[in-house]
Order: sequence, then C-alpha cells, then structure tokens
Amino acid sequence: DKGGHKHFMAKEIAEQPTVIGDAIQHYLSSNGNSVVLPDPGLDFTKIERLTMVACGTAYYACVTAKYWFEQLAGIPVEVDVASEFRYREPPVTKGTVAVFVSQSGETADTLAALRFCEGKAEQIVSVVNVPESSIARESDLVLPIFAGTEIGVASTKAFTCQLTVLLMMALKAASERGVMSKDEIQGKLSALRSMPGILNAALGLQDPLRAVSRKLAEARDILFLGRGVMYPLAMEAALKLKEISYIHAEAYASGELKHGPIALIDEHVPVIVLAPRDRLFDKTVSNMQEVLARSGQVLLITDQEGAVESGEDVWETIVLPEVDPILSPILYAIPAQLLAYYTAVAKGTDVDQPRNLAKSVTVE
Ligand code: M6R
Repeated sequence: DKGGHKHFMAKEIAEQPTVIGDAIQHYLSSNGNSVVLPDPGLDFTKIERLTMVACGTAYYACVTAKYWFEQLAGIPVEVDVASEFRYREPPVTKGTVAVFVSQSGETADTLAALRFCEGKAEQIVSVVNVPESSIARESDLVLPIFAGTEIGVASTKAFTCQLTVLLMMALKAASERGVMSKDEIQGKLSALRSMPGILNAALGLQDPLRAVSRKLAEARDILFLGRGVMYPLAMEAALKLKEISYIHAEAYASGELKHGPIALIDEHVPVIVLAPRDRLFDKTVSNMQEVLARSGQVLLITDQEGAVESGEDVWETIVLPEVDPILSPILYAIPAQLLAYYTAVAKGTDVDQPRNLAKSVTVE
C-alpha cells in the first residue's frame, strides 16, 4: 500500500518524521534526559575504538557516525565497506567494538565481515531494521532502527533512522566518557526531539525541489560537495541520484575540489552544495566561488543565514530550517532524497525497482 503516494519511495520519504520520532522514543530514558541502550549495553568507558562496517547507504551512515563519535565522544573510529574489510582481514584487537549497519540484516558481505570479527572484537553490535535477520542473530548487541518495512530499493527512511540511532549512541558515549556534561547532552537530546517537526518543514519544500529536478534531469553529470559531516551526506546524495535517475553523480569533499575534480566543471555540470551555516561554511562558500568562476551551475542547499551570506550568483538556493550542526545530516537527507526522486520521476525511470538493483544483496 503506497498510502496515496505514486511510489513507495515517496511514501517512505514522507514517513521519516514519524519513524525518526519512533526511533528517538525507543532510545530515550523515561524522563527524556538520557539515552538507554538495550541489554547487554555497551561500556563506552572501556572502548578503545570502533570499527564500523557496512555497504552502500548504510556505509554512508557509518561515515557520518565517525564524525559524531570522534567529535562528540573522542572515540577513534574506522569505517570500511564490507567487501573490502572482509578480504583485507585487518587486525581486530580486544578493546575494539565492531559495529555492523544494515537495513536488511542480510547483506552477504556485511555478514561475512561480522563473522570475521567473531572471537576477535570485544563486542559485536548491529544496527538493523530487521531484528530477526542473520546479522542481528549473530550480534552481541542489537540496536533496531524502527524504520518499518522499507520497500523502495533506494534506501531513505532506513538511512535517517540509522543516523538517528548512531547519533544517540554517540551521545551516550560522550556522556559516559565525561566528554559532554549532562546539560550539554540534554540540550542535544531536546534538539533531537524537535527533529520530526523540522523534518516536516523540510518535506514542505517539494515544489522548489521538483522544479530544480526538472533541470537536473537534463544533466549528464552532477557533482555534490560537502564538508565535515556534510561530506558523507554528499556521497549518499550522489548514490541516491545514480541509483534511480541513472545520471552519473559523484561527491567530493569540498576541499578536494581543487585537487582534480574542478577540471570537470563547465556550464553543463550542475554542482549541488550541501552547506548549512556551520563553522565550515565560509570554506565551503569559497570552494563554491571556484565553481562559479568556471561557469558551474550551483544549487546551494543551506539555511536562512547561509542563503544571505552566500551571495547572489548561484543558480538556485533551497533554504532549510536552522538546526544544531550535529543534526544537519538528518535534515539535509530530505532534500537529497527528494532531488533524486523528482529527477527520476522527470526522467520516467522505475523509481521503486531501478534497473540492475536488488533490495537486499545476499550474494557477493
Ligand atoms: O540492507 P543493507 O543496509 O545492508 O543494504 C546495503 C546496501 O545494499 C544498500 O544500502 C544499497 O546501497 C541501497 N540500494 C541504497 O539506496
């Protein structure tokens, strides 16, 4: 049942405020002031490092979480795609907690990577949407994401629910390790609780996003730029667009632009810049200027303050609500998904069943 939507993907995008609200509720203490993990829990004071492994969209959720665990909790994090991790056979030492993120819980490479860590890692944790899945069954600690059934091959609500659960884990780590005070944690948690309302506001931007997508549908190549925690989101945005619109899309860390990719820029290449007005904004804007100076067509996705400070030369600006910088990846996922969706709709591709792709990749 598509609930009145044309595609499952549209329905699943629209469900995000609700399912993220569910995920938050499941991991909040009854007074709402702290994060509670299910048994047997995790002793963050003893963890030396996290090794996070996943594929596709779940991998980009892990890369985002690396920024959070390192910045908020001071825990070193390694992130790998499962197909590389399993054959590289890296040393996994005691003191390492291995985290496997998978919507289906059945991805062959992720499961094989998990089995490689059995008996080596201190603890095996999985972040899954399907709690009865193979990956969940073989984990010491299972953190369900509560996204509900996801049917569209392009993952949307599972991604933002993965981010929500990983962020709450990082906040719990920050609190247990004494890196953040009780007040700071409560401030972040109350900002998180306001996310469903903010995401609803972002979902109200369908019209301008549909309008720019008609132009994007004509492009052959599209670049995404982001810095800091927006870099993994840029990678996820490019994957989403590739999967369902079949347009070649790549993401670069904004600061890498001048190390090569800038050679690609001309008036035919739309460049989508994901840049909330955070502490890295000025640097991203200066990278954006470099694109504009080469006639690149910039679509800037930012907030009110960012829109004012960025100047007038961009092709289009999409203005999102302002949020605590740690929450930006969750919020900015919405326009990234809607751009991919409307571009695919404009091209007339099969949005829910894109060519060559399967929902769950159970063979390597
Ligand atoms: O079920 P999983 O989360 O383990 O799946 C991982 C990837 O196959 C998946 O995220 C894939 O990249 C999606 N089609 C992305 O939209």
